[in-house]
Amino acid sequence: MIVCSCLIITDAQIEQALLEILRSPDAPLPTPGVVYRHLAKKMVCCGCSPLAVSTIYRKIDELAQRGVVCPYACANAQGRLRKCASDTLAERLIELHPLKPRRIESPAPTPQGSALEPA
Ligand code: FES
Repeated sequence: MIVCSCLIITDAQIEQALLEILRSPDAPLPTPGVVYRHLAKKMVCCGCSPLAVSTIYRKIDELAQRGVVCPYACANAQGRLRKCASDTLAERLIELHPLKPRRIESPAPTPQGSALEPA
């Protein structure tokens, strides 16, 4: 899906940029400006900002669910993004697509007579 029509930036490019940004030790808040700069692009009309914010918010959640980025870094970034987007179109877009509750898997049962059990 194209998020920015001026610069032809897709949600997949945003996801890749987020992966790299959020894995860095001192990860900045991934605002659209930060993400676009990471992609070596500079916003033109800024009309995509609300969609970019909601896409970033959603992609952060997907990365956390896949376990490829620290969930604490993701939750922190989402909270700060949400605060920056309060009372804007971006917040309304975020609310249109609420996050799905995360399912916590219980550990798989160990087979009888496992090599880890004492004989
Ligand atoms: S639509 Fe993204 S800068 Fe214009």
